Amino acid sequence: MPLNNVRKEVMLTLEKDIEATFGQFLIAPEEIWQPTDFLPNPQSDSFMDEVEEIRELSKELDDDFWISLVGDMITEEALPTYESWLLDLDGINQHGEEKGWSSWIRRWTAEENRHGDVLNKYIYLSGRVNMREVEITTQHLIADGFDIGTARDPYKTFVYTSFQELATFVSHGNVAKIARKAGMKGLAKMSKIIAGDEMRHHLAYVEFIRQIFAVDPSEMMIAFRDMMKYKIEMPAMYLRESFEAKASLFDRFSDVAQRAGVYTAFDYIDILEKLNEAWKIDKITGLTDEADKARTYLMRLPDRMKRIASRIVIPDTDYNFKWVNPLIT
Ligand SMILES: [Fe+2]
Ligand SMILES: [Fe+2]
Repeated sequence: MPLNNVRKEVMLTLEKDIEATFGQFLIAPEEIWQPTDFLPNPQSDSFMDEVEEIRELSKELDDDFWISLVGDMITEEALPTYESWLLDLDGINQHGEEKGWSSWIRRWTAEENRHGDVLNKYIYLSGRVNMREVEITTQHLIADGFDIGTARDPYKTFVYTSFQELATFVSHGNVAKIARKAGMKGLAKMSKIIAGDEMRHHLAYVEFIRQIFAVDPSEMMIAFRDMMKYKIEMPAMYLRESFEAKASLFDRFSDVAQRAGVYTAFDYIDILEKLNEAWKIDKITGLTDEADKARTYLMRLPDRMKRIASRIVIPDTDYNFKWVNPLIT
């Protein structure tokens, strides 16, 4: 049977009970936090004072920090790209089962939507950012689309999302720490609670893959190896500024995020190690020869990457992002 048909069958089999699985990882809209819980309330008399406080505190942090935060916010706002990608996978049908995979994707998207929402409002109020330039980048990113490099393969795509949810957990968590140090309690709280959402979503995707490993271990192992071999492309890969070419901003953005301590090459390696542990890669049995070799590759990869990462020197160039330049009127 062709591989994608096997994958479809595995996904349809898992779908029968998937609501019971993902139900544990989601929170109803009325019970979960909403962006307004962490922002000045526009119906309150103290609104203007609270905004003034945010503007004052926001002066404390440097451009590297704001650029990193804006990049994180924009990649959150490119959510339509990820939702449409996931709905197109083999074995996922948006007209199908009410309680099936498509329900997970929609509910996950709905939770994620709050992340870009709260960060966008906070960044707007901070007064530190050229919002028009940021908005142009967001529009470009959604319009350009994004090739995750997984085709319609649910195994590879769920490796991607398991990885990305943990990467965003790390980066929002790092923003929270930096903000707390600078006395920006509001930003610290919102970033920490966003990180909490990312962890819940990460655990859901880890569980989906664990279930796939239980029924199709060799193909799952090979899919994981393939994803790590070609490196996980970050959504920020496709960022560009106004009037610039497609995907022209990533290298500069990545340097800035590393300098700010928001997301580094060592975080990437750490995430890989955590995924190896989460799926107990060293203990999976019943593998074909090829899958067993894939497992060996995955187990050795973190150490190999650490040797390479320790040689990376991050430039201290001032990149002059349009996102933080003053608006010229
Ligand atoms: Fe998010
Ligand atoms: Fe996420």
